[in-house]
Amino acid sequence: MHGRENWSSHMAFVMAAAASAVGLGNLWRFPYLAAKYGGGIFLLTYAVLAATLGFTLLVVETAVGRRTRLSPPAAYRSLSPKWQGIGWLGIAAPAIVLCYYNAVGGWTVKYLAVYAERVFRGGEALDAVKSGELFGGFISGGSYAPLACGAIFAGCTAALVLAGVKKGIERSSKILMPILLALCVAVSCISLSQPGAAEGLEYYLRPDFSAFSWKTVVWAMGQMFFSLSISLGIMITYGSYMRKDDSICRSVLRIEMFDGAVAFLAGLMIIPPTYAFLGPEGVQSQGPGLMFIALPAVFSRMTLFGAEIGDIAGLMFFALAFFAALTSCVSTMETVTSSLRDCTGMRRAPAGTVVAAVMGAALVPISLCYVKDGFFSGDILPGMPLLDFMDFAANNLLMPACGFLTCIFIGWIVGPEWVISETEADGSRFRFRRLFSFTLKYAAPIAIAGIALAYTLKQLDWISM
Ligand code: PHE
Repeated sequence: MHGRENWSSHMAFVMAAAASAVGLGNLWRFPYLAAKYGGGIFLLTYAVLAATLGFTLLVVETAVGRRTRLSPPAAYRSLSPKWQGIGWLGIAAPAIVLCYYNAVGGWTVKYLAVYAERVFRGGEALDAVKSGELFGGFISGGSYAPLACGAIFAGCTAALVLAGVKKGIERSSKILMPILLALCVAVSCISLSQPGAAEGLEYYLRPDFSAFSWKTVVWAMGQMFFSLSISLGIMITYGSYMRKDDSICRSVLRIEMFDGAVAFLAGLMIIPPTYAFLGPEGVQSQGPGLMFIALPAVFSRMTLFGAEIGDIAGLMFFALAFFAALTSCVSTMETVTSSLRDCTGMRRAPAGTVVAAVMGAALVPISLCYVKDGFFSGDILPGMPLLDFMDFAANNLLMPACGFLTCIFIGWIVGPEWVISETEADGSRFRFRRLFSFTLKYAAPIAIAGIALAYTLKQLDWISM
């Protein structure tokens, strides 16, 4: 068995885990959901859920990792051979996410290149139509560009994972996270200085109680799971490298605050100018449409002191999107690699190479699945091409299943005390024993089952959300 690597400090763990949490979900999903489901009231719901449910589940995962010093499958096997299936579920989701995240990461590479070229060579302004053509031409035009961009992204991911915990993951997040935060602040300032931004800001932040319903809670909860990468085994893996004298609770709080801050800033970057230039419909375009079509059209109209600043703002935005996606993908690949190592005793280099080869091969059909009439296009389920299907399978099926079973297993069989005593290993006292046990045993499993049910009914078109 290989000796386990360790983070070099408390902050190193916090930065790496925050880097894993901050991803495209913060940038494209959070702002859109907040604007649609009640503005300020969505933010408040999100904060309350993160402080209770999110906190509990992150603490559990980190403690499982640190106490067993193993990654998901081996960690659960060591706790109970009968329940080791949770570990396998816990690794299936990141394995799937890993494959398609490289493809989406490739889109950020493409846009980074587009904006770098525009900054240096200039280019015609992108209105909504041209911007749509640019994106459509890229992913469905039939060239191998999406594959090439995905491969560049996957190569960066693999290089960082192969470099190891300290030299690769820790060092890259220590450098990239402060840059990311600075870019967020810079782009937010530009956005807020645009004419008409104040109305958009109000649209984003004003609590709209009439828009508050159970849907707000379901979406806020789903977003929280995705954004904090809960139930993906990532925190188990990162927790397994954590030193005994660092505080789990304090780390988790900091990770959540960092993740929440970036999500909030993303809203400031995106909503006010999009609202000002494209109106509420622009803001309502969701997912890839918001980030890769609406936003470039917004950037094209930005000015600062009379000068056109859109291409520079675009370059900064896609640089930060690239960093955010990269560090999330690294944590996912590390989880899969580390699990392979724990199960086989392989060293990092061969295990990482095997994982890289598999994700490289998977990239071919996934990155080309939107090509019009292409070899890999076609729906797996109605309305779901391969990439959407993988996203659905991982986020709507595997993650809730794994999260639910984790709560049952740790809450009812292993017992909350097992987790609590691990959080006290650094000499601190755990102060929310009762709330924590209640959340883990009752609130969390019920909430997770509720989201899974709501998402499935929505998918079947039985309810609208
Ligand atoms: N947490 C990431 C985000 O906010 C998403 C993600 C989930 C990344 C799972 C990797 C694995 O975008």
